[in-house]
Amino acid sequence: MLCSILDNDLKSARRFRDEVWGVSAAIFSGITDWGELIEGEIDVFCRLNNPSFRRRASLFTTQPNRQGRRPLRRVMCREEFVSSGTSLQWTNLDAFLSPGAKLLEFGRDIADFLGHPLDSISYFFTPPHSQTLPKHSDCFEVFTLQISGSKTWEFDHPVIDFASGQRLNCSLELRPGDWLYVPAGWSHSVRSRGEQSTSVAIIVAPLQFAHVLLELCNLSFPHTLPAWPVGDQAQNLGSCYIELFEKVKQSFQSLDVEVFRQALAVASARHKRRHRLV
Ligand SMILES: [Fe+2]
Repeated sequence: MLCSILDNDLKSARRFRDEVWGVSAAIFSGITDWGELIEGEIDVFCRLNNPSFRRRASLFTTQPNRQGRRPLRRVMCREEFVSSGTSLQWTNLDAFLSPGAKLLEFGRDIADFLGHPLDSISYFFTPPHSQTLPKHSDCFEVFTLQISGSKTWEFDHPVIDFASGQRLNCSLELRPGDWLYVPAGWSHSVRSRGEQSTSVAIIVAPLQFAHVLLELCNLSFPHTLPAWPVGDQAQNLGSCYIELFEKVKQSFQSLDVEVFRQALAVASARHKRRHRLV
């Protein structure tokens, strides 16, 4: 879980969840030493030679002086990426990891601890002095691990050093073994420094309106909804759904704003996002 990033320190993991999650970008410096292991699990430049892998994987490239990213169109070796200044992004890496892969365990454990679904894991290979994506913000919560090389991250707001709790600059260098947490909506631009950079991003889904709707159902009308159909009734699920939607519609029409606010508060507390939404 998150505490495996934090050296098995459950107290620190809870501090992260309560004070930093959804609030501020934070760096966890040099905590993990699993770069080589994770690089072995990924092995992207060997996999690129496999046509079946290239068909199924979501691989994108970014080239200098060309706007936007494009799907990878042909096999390129690592050296060609470097000499042409081309960056590689592999967005569905998690679908290719073996069930016991360390990186996949990290991703699932982090998401479980925070009470959110794991969206996906992405891989980035960046040649020296290059930028894979222009300045942007993501609508997901992102945990980046710098595997090799180093990158400069720039934000509009200061980043917290998690160990000391101190506010750092808006610009910081990520070195191998460093984790960086970037909250959804935080603008950032990222550039590799003097060597090739490899990094992975564990992408966690943020709180969604669906979570609030679920809380509204739980809070407001758990007993007025029809029971799950059994026996003969179960043969006609279509009419059961129509009855359900009618009841939900009526129940929502009678809700007042206070109930909605309460559901929002419960959902955001449940998803550890109370600082931003309530
Ligand atoms: Fe991003």
